[in-house]
Amino acid sequence: METQIDYWDAHALLEWQIELGAAEAISESPVNRYDLLDQRPLPQSQTAQSRATPATLAPAAAAEPDPADIATKLAKSAGSLEALREALEGFDLCDLKLGARNLVFSDGLPAARVMIVGEAPGRDEDMQGKPFVGRSGQLLDKMFAAIGLDRASPDAENALYITNPIPWRPPENRDPTREEIAMLKPFLIRHIELADPDVVVLMGNWACTALLGRAGITRLRGKWQTVLGKPAMPMTHPAYLLRNPIAKREAWADLLEIRAKLQSQK
Ligand code: URA
Repeated sequence: METQIDYWDAHALLEWQIELGAAEAISESPVNRYDLLDQRPLPQSQTAQSRATPATLAPAAAAEPDPADIATKLAKSAGSLEALREALEGFDLCDLKLGARNLVFSDGLPAARVMIVGEAPGRDEDMQGKPFVGRSGQLLDKMFAAIGLDRASPDAENALYITNPIPWRPPENRDPTREEIAMLKPFLIRHIELADPDVVVLMGNWACTALLGRAGITRLRGKWQTVLGKPAMPMTHPAYLLRNPIAKREAWADLLEIRAKLQSQK
């Protein structure tokens, strides 16, 4: 039996969803509509032809290329940050891209001595195409201003450069999967190589997962690590600090560590 919903019922349903907080018309997980095309029944003429093709003449099924291998080749061949951004823009193997409005590549000064690696874009970042522009970003800016660093500074000494391991907003702000982090990691590695900062800040668990291969930020924070031969400081994410203001004291200690490292490396 076919169910008919009239205009006013549909309107009321929509209003109800908006009241519940649905702000965007996307589903819980991305749908790859190209896959759906492959699942359509073949036209009669084609099925007849394939029935007539002897198995021995059928072309051998090509092995599925590993998306992480393709990402590695693309990332390695990028000779500049602009080329890396273009490579990511053309990378279609990560389904997160299908549900995102914009690629969120970076913000700040690429020549900055400090590079921050966050987690993933949220709604504000997806709309503006820049990392850390929502509430967490405002706190992040205040935190680094306290040690004299500013993403808007034109001077490498006082500037910040900011990116995320995940450049597209995950639907409903869900956590990225390990597969997504691994697939996009070659781009992150190349991003750090090209920006070549003196110090890397691992802001939260996903940055640690991507670059150290482990999470557990409350234990990792405050202890220097090494990423691509550079000193890397794991810190608790500003979103966590917004929920747990008591942890700001430790974050302040981590910021002082970063300032001391920058001064000692001059
Ligand atoms: N949180 C992040 O880790 N990155 C962003 O870009 C925004 C919020």
